[in-house]
Amino acid sequence: MKYDFTTVANRRNIGAAKWALMLEKNPNAEKDVVPFSVADMEFYNAPELMNGLAEYVKQPIYGYTDATDAYYNAVVDYMKKYHSWEIEKEWICPTNGVVGALNDLVRVLTKPNDGIVIMRPVYYPFSSAITRNNRRLINVPLINNNEKYEIDFEAFDQATKPEEVKMFILCSPHNPIGRVWTKEELQKLGDICIKNDIIIISDEIHFDFIMDKHEHTVMSTLSEEIANRTIVCTAPSKTFNLGGVKVSNIIISNPEYREKYMEVTNFLNTFAYKTCEIVYTECREWFEALMDVLHENKKLVEDFIAEHLPMIKVYPLEGTYLMWLDCRALGLSNEELENLMLKNDLYLDEGYLFGEEGSGFERWNIACPKQELLAGLERFKTAIETL
Ligand SMILES: Cc1ncc(COP(=O)(O)O)c(C=O)c1O
Repeated sequence: MKYDFTTVANRRNIGAAKWALMLEKNPNAEKDVVPFSVADMEFYNAPELMNGLAEYVKQPIYGYTDATDAYYNAVVDYMKKYHSWEIEKEWICPTNGVVGALNDLVRVLTKPNDGIVIMRPVYYPFSSAITRNNRRLINVPLINNNEKYEIDFEAFDQATKPEEVKMFILCSPHNPIGRVWTKEELQKLGDICIKNDIIIISDEIHFDFIMDKHEHTVMSTLSEEIANRTIVCTAPSKTFNLGGVKVSNIIISNPEYREKYMEVTNFLNTFAYKTCEIVYTECREWFEALMDVLHENKKLVEDFIAEHLPMIKVYPLEGTYLMWLDCRALGLSNEELENLMLKNDLYLDEGYLFGEEGSGFERWNIACPKQELLAGLERFKTAIETL
């Protein structure tokens, strides 16, 4: 293979957040153990990116930098080519991270005490973006029918009806439960938001990680009317493993929302602009090779658990590289489950972090070399066998 997806990187003590978290929980974590929590990947970056940045670093001056035409064209072309989404250069708001953007959007587009809807279990910074900014969190839990998760449209309609409810934060594809919402599901949500006059923040940061036959639809492509009330949060950071670069593009076609947002947003640094431009124009081949590895890893987890741990239910991974495992059949409390994992050198994201609906679940990041994933699965089996 042209790219290296097998070398295991040692990211201890270099500031890697996922590794620091592991060592904080257990300073004596075994030497060869890789954590499976925070959503970045244990794969080396695309060589095209490393080479491109190495060239860029040779520039003699790192002065204040604006987005160039080459930058905007890279984003516009990527959205068109890979997401069938025609955007204007003016709609692109380069921003140093989606989580910061969510907080800023909440502050500029709603008022204190306004209601904001989310569907738990969901990426936990959605909740803090609402509560830390003194808005009212309204949860419309997803329906877990034990096969897959579905949206409770009736409850969503009721929740978004009151005048003081102003916004909905959608996760699409949905972290942590791995659904890729269908066009029909998104259309239904969009129609309700139009009817009840709700602004939609659609966090589509995982939009490139689409498994098997599933298809991702960008919320704003559904209709002009939906686009006009939707802000789409995109980023090259998950796709190309750039969490530490802090680079995202918030796409806002509505000029009123855009103007408000642009007054508060933090733009990019000179290296982040260049990074986005390089990955969107030169690194897609790397990404496609990566997807083959992720499909294999997904199957490895499914097959291993089906064979050795049939009491654990693996939810179908339609999108993202984060698998959602139902461990409720073990009959453990959240604390007991977490301790069992830690005792066996397993560093996962505990389901309850994503809301109480996630109690008894584990989120497992499978973006790592296969041998590490297999070693983790063996520890998982040992852990459960000790019960
Ligand atoms: C749904 C979702 N949104 C946002 C982020 C983080 O975005 P950023 O690093 O750009 O703040 C993550 C990271 O895991 C995520 O899963």
